[in-house]
Amino acid sequence: MKISLREAGDNFISFFYTLIKAVQVHDLRNDVVQSAAQKLLEYINSILTATSTIEIVRYRDYIFFNKQRLRFKIDRFASLQFIDSKLRVLKIKSLTFLPGISKEEILKFSSIFKLERDIFLKQFTLEKFNHIQLEFATRDDEIPELLKDGERVKRTYFRALKGLRNLMQNLWTNRPVDVISSRRIVYSLLNALFQDEYGLLALATLKNIDEYTFNHSLNVGILSMALGQRIDLNRKSLAQLGTAGLLHDLGKVDIPKEIMYKVELSNEEWEKIKLHSVYGVKEIVRIRELDEIGMVGMVVAYQHHWNYDGTGYPAREKDEKPMLFAKIVRICDAYDAMTSPRTYQPIPYLRHYALRILWAHKHTWFDPILVKAFIQLLGVYPVGSCLELNSREIGLVIRQNVGYLDLPLVKIVINKQGENVDGATVDLSLEKGINIVRPVFPQQYGINPATYFV
Ligand SMILES: [Fe+2]
Ligand SMILES: [Fe+2]
Repeated sequence: MKISLREAGDNFISFFYTLIKAVQVHDLRNDVVQSAAQKLLEYINSILTATSTIEIVRYRDYIFFNKQRLRFKIDRFASLQFIDSKLRVLKIKSLTFLPGISKEEILKFSSIFKLERDIFLKQFTLEKFNHIQLEFATRDDEIPELLKDGERVKRTYFRALKGLRNLMQNLWTNRPVDVISSRRIVYSLLNALFQDEYGLLALATLKNIDEYTFNHSLNVGILSMALGQRIDLNRKSLAQLGTAGLLHDLGKVDIPKEIMYKVELSNEEWEKIKLHSVYGVKEIVRIRELDEIGMVGMVVAYQHHWNYDGTGYPAREKDEKPMLFAKIVRICDAYDAMTSPRTYQPIPYLRHYALRILWAHKHTWFDPILVKAFIQLLGVYPVGSCLELNSREIGLVIRQNVGYLDLPLVKIVINKQGENVDGATVDLSLEKGINIVRPVFPQQYGINPATYFV
């Protein structure tokens, strides 16, 4: 059976991981090690019949296998994360395996791969490796410039925002709606996600109190697709999920604006707002007619305030469970709402704290496995967080380190003297002397994180 390049890459990484792990605990002559090396060798040889080399490249937190980008998926997370962080610590940009490689060479390499960088380098030059080549990363490969090639992703985000605004405003004013526009928005976002997941997630930190509903809907769509990608949904499902995320609050167009944006609601008004889940179904029928994507969108709109433990609204039968996509949107919706300024919540929650709330409510409000995957996606301090460092500087989180969820890359935005600066980028997983003291409110320092991403 022919498998895809991505599957071959996933398999290769997991055979490699098994071997390195075995070598960490056993002697090289041990049976477990020997059989892991044999398996990896056979796999390498089977791939090398079709291609001339096997090349693993690590570039800006992405791992490529013969130029195919591998994804961090929940079932393969441990192996890819391990190899990624190994390559990063050893500062290896590319690792190439050539035909003719033997089991002995594989074993020899795996025994030095576990070492500290200095000893690894010495051993690698000392021992002759004829069928394994290395290229080392430069500083530029390691520390990305802030969204250097993110122009296209940015354009996609703002075009999607405009499209979504048009769609909702037309519904509000009972004007005809362009049905294909929502599809176009989703596919362009999906391409942006495949092209630069981190760049798109950084843009999803954009909040706008005046246009809360549009930004919120778009951010929920993006976060949902990114989370869906982590649990390995295929492209078609991701498109359905993304649409459902974009349209989850569409029913709000039927709620009078004076209630929608009121600071203190009476019980009666609150009950009215809750009806947006039901109204959403009706609005989606209006724009999508009854195609497959529309059907999923309707179910999600109806279920997106259903909790994992059976509570939430609208009321339901005890044994009725929300569909997977509704559970995903439930999490992304809650996270984006908590971290957005609103009329009744001008200072939103710290992103880090919002994740802790999700974590605290896994099992009750949220699906625990999905919450875990969501935190793996965003890290402990999500992009856009501001961190006080022990150097008395303030760093803005601009990217996650996949292998170190609590040690992101930050850009220094406030220096030791308390001045706003366009400072250096620091990889907290590599700079041993710099530690995080605590996350802080960006407002306290007059910072709007999103402005650094656009
Ligand atoms: Fe909602
Ligand atoms: Fe929402």
